[in-house]
Amino acid sequence: MIDLHTHILPGLDDGAETLEDSIRMAQVAAEDGITRLVATPHGAEWGGGASREDLATRVAELRAVLAVRGVNVTVHPGLEIYLDPDLPAQLESGSIFPLNDTRYLLVELPLQSYPRYVDQVFFDLQLRGYHPILAHPERNNGIQKDHRLLEQLVERGVLAQVTAGSLLGAWGSMVKKTAQVFVERRLVHIIASDAHTYEGARAPRLSAAVRMAAKLIGEDSALAMVERTPERILAGEEVSPEPILQARGHKSWLFWR
Ligand SMILES: [Fe+2]
Repeated sequence: MIDLHTHILPGLDDGAETLEDSIRMAQVAAEDGITRLVATPHGAEWGGGASREDLATRVAELRAVLAVRGVNVTVHPGLEIYLDPDLPAQLESGSIFPLNDTRYLLVELPLQSYPRYVDQVFFDLQLRGYHPILAHPERNNGIQKDHRLLEQLVERGVLAQVTAGSLLGAWGSMVKKTAQVFVERRLVHIIASDAHTYEGARAPRLSAAVRMAAKLIGEDSALAMVERTPERILAGEEVSPEPILQARGHKSWLFWR
């Protein structure tokens, strides 16, 4: 499996604090069946803001340490970009950059609101030849209340990443239900861990969430969310998502009851 979203690099954000934390995270990932993962630290808004070159060096260093320790996981460079109207300019200046030197950008929204400029920024990025991937839409308050917001983005070719812990209830029943509906409706295309540490719900594990997704959409589609689709993304190849399914009325009624 491939994990596209982790905070495994030490000392950059609220993820791994020390190199030992990073090594333990990689060990946990390997034990769970993850062979490749992307280091996606937060940017400057979290006190980080490592340059592309700095990040590449840090990833190379971690790779070397993992090789010495015999941990069979390959780490790739990436970034979790915080949505801002200024993203196109930030890309031009090089202060933000895509996953693994592709054209795919991992973008997160504020959790509490759905800014009105989301659609415009994503569209601008697409016009410039970038492919935005929306991180954990199931955790955004605005999208939870109105699934149509996500639907509109996905209809326009935006990919979305659901967090493994969300599917398993780590963020409560509301987020869990939302995540499950998004998987069922094919409104999310990738399962990633968004791991911040090596234990508990924020560890880099995917297999339990894949089993949960397999119950909802079948094994082949569930595995594609951690194998085929992230593999194509890391290779910079195009992804052809499954068509969106319509909401099932009785389910949403049950949901609001
Ligand atoms: Fe994250």
